[in-house]
Amino acid sequence: MPKTIIVSNRLPVKIQKGDQGLEYQTSEGGLATGLGSIYKEGNNVWIGWPGLYVDSKETEQEITTRLQESNMSPVFLSAEEIRDYYEGFSNETLWPTFHYFSNYAIYENELWEAYFRVNLKFCEEVVRLAEPGDTLWIHDYQLLLLPQLIRERLPESSIGFFLHIPFPSYEVFRMLPWRRQLLKGLLGADLIGFHTYDDMRHFLSSVNRIVMLTHTNGQVDVNNRRVLVDAFPMGIDYQNYAATAAAPDTIKKEVRFRTALGEVKVALSIDRLDYSKGIPNRLQAFEMFLERYPEWRGKVSLVMVLVPSRDRVGRYKDLKEDIDERVGRINGQYGRLNWTPVHYFYRSFPLNSLSAFYRIADVALVTPMRDGMNLVAKEYVASKLDQRGVLVLSEMAGASRELLDSLQINPNDINGMVDAIHASLVMSESEQERRMSNMQATIRKYDIHNWVRVFMDRLSFIKEKQDKMS
Ligand code: UDP
Ligand code: G6P
Repeated sequence: MPKTIIVSNRLPVKIQKGDQGLEYQTSEGGLATGLGSIYKEGNNVWIGWPGLYVDSKETEQEITTRLQESNMSPVFLSAEEIRDYYEGFSNETLWPTFHYFSNYAIYENELWEAYFRVNLKFCEEVVRLAEPGDTLWIHDYQLLLLPQLIRERLPESSIGFFLHIPFPSYEVFRMLPWRRQLLKGLLGADLIGFHTYDDMRHFLSSVNRIVMLTHTNGQVDVNNRRVLVDAFPMGIDYQNYAATAAAPDTIKKEVRFRTALGEVKVALSIDRLDYSKGIPNRLQAFEMFLERYPEWRGKVSLVMVLVPSRDRVGRYKDLKEDIDERVGRINGQYGRLNWTPVHYFYRSFPLNSLSAFYRIADVALVTPMRDGMNLVAKEYVASKLDQRGVLVLSEMAGASRELLDSLQINPNDINGMVDAIHASLVMSESEQERRMSNMQATIRKYDIHNWVRVFMDRLSFIKEKQDKMS
């Protein structure tokens, strides 16, 4: 029975060393949460890194056995590989470049070499597990070289690739010294998917100008093999988020949160602590809002959940300090004994707590500088069973193309954000309901199951087309 092999840098389960030995947790981040339900089916398997450095063969074996029971196959990384491939090239070269923070990017050949070697390591694991007829689905910027590496070893294989982050414009992408190799790596796939048409357009323009291949309707011929490039905006498991929002445990939590917060309006933000998420701008806007609208002091609190992320990378450490300082300043200046302007959590929460936060929030502030999609925006909408609440959403997030009834802001425009916060707090209930129900209709229809189905259908389509052409 042919299977689907999902490959991503991070497995959907994250292992940490705790007091009582190894602890297994669900990984945060859009990719892991979005595909969580798929790999468990049949004999499918998910290949990826379990998120920690393991220094003994026995522990590796223990982890491998445990993960195999739930359809996962680990790729272990050495301390150097974590530093140079994961923290280094993936998160200090590609991540900043693809999010238009090129001034944060470092260009070092040693990191590039580590990236190549680790992509090769993932390739070995795929080749070990793949059988004829299997479908390979590779995810995200950490594995851009993998499609072509697999193509060289398994020329007949069916390979889909999906990029979860933005693809930058040619002018930005061209700054990477390894731009040609990266594109050639990707073009080893049969289907290359992006969240938005803009990402797709940017990719095709780079392909055209860097490797001199033209496209017709998103189809590119690479060494006589037709490759399809298309946009697939990722959805969420709508039913699951709606059901979690209705669950008694979630409602109990919401009541506890409400008791603790008091009778204030709640603005909510939930992100990994990342400079792409626009957190300082959001805090600046909230601070200016309190300054400009004194009548709202004591009446609205910002609940800000920041999930620790890549905290050994310098830029992330600096950002954490900046945020700590800003939150301290706002609370110091405006706080009262019976009111805290910003409730700040630097940790991750289980799903029913997130759901209780979504339920309680009158406003969600999703203000990234750049974001491939942003699933938090969609999860908020899906959790609003009474259709009350307003989504303030950055136009730089892929999700803004679908969530047209959000209040859209430019995160660089602090005044615009202040206005949007105010508008959302005074919006009539009927308008909230109208906007929310429109957005719910969209994301209910284009959910994660639809996303997987459409991607897989397009992959079959291009494989059939290749067969006919050969
Ligand atoms: N998330 C989580 N635990 C938390 C906070 C967030 O699992 O404590 C999840 C959240 O529900 C969402 C994902 O992390 O599914 C974040 O995805 P998003 O697309 O918003 O951003 P990314 O982290 O992928 O850049
Ligand atoms: C984003 C990326 C994912 C990544 C996740 C968490 O969602 O698109 O590839 O897994 O962030 O980041 P981390 O570095 O912890 O895996």
